[in-house]
Amino acid sequence: MSAQSNIILVGFMGTGKTSVGKLLAQRLNMEFLDMDDVIVEREGKSIPHIFNESGEPYFRMLERKLVEELSKQSGLVIAAGGGIVLNSNNIADFSRTGVVVCLNATPEVILKRVGNDTNRPLLMSNDRMQKIRDLLESRRKLYDAIPLQINTDLQTLEQVVDTILFLYRKTGNK
Ligand code: S3P
Repeated sequence: MSAQSNIILVGFMGTGKTSVGKLLAQRLNMEFLDMDDVIVEREGKSIPHIFNESGEPYFRMLERKLVEELSKQSGLVIAAGGGIVLNSNNIADFSRTGVVVCLNATPEVILKRVGNDTNRPLLMSNDRMQKIRDLLESRRKLYDAIPLQINTDLQTLEQVVDTILFLYRKTGNK
């Protein structure tokens, strides 16, 4: 029997990767892994601390190394960090051993979901809405390039999970 493919959830901050990923993993009896959590645990520092003390390029290097590691494994549901698309090697590696799904949402919904959260250094601004719009726009092409897209604005968590299960099973996984 061939190994069970990973499912990798990508998409902008606040599109629901972690909530969807946890439920999806439960439904499939697979292991769930949040990339940010793994990095925080290994570094012993929060994401804002890593950004402040070592800079964004260092964080991206940690992400890259983790992608290389995880894409050699199987049977995982992975919630990737929102910036994973910035390095095309990440999506290429993940696609080799897994099904990559991009979650998306409008800036209004994203703002509601992230609220005043201080754990996302790239959103620290007096005008958070504008920050979200600008960042989303600068990454639009990268997110859009992923073939499987799901809009999470109006769907319940269960509906999103059902859609992903359907897509995943179509790829020959159980
Ligand atoms: C980032 C998204 C965050 C986290 C870091 C950078 C980004 O992850 O990796 O703050 O560049 O979009 P979430 O998408 O899980 O919030």
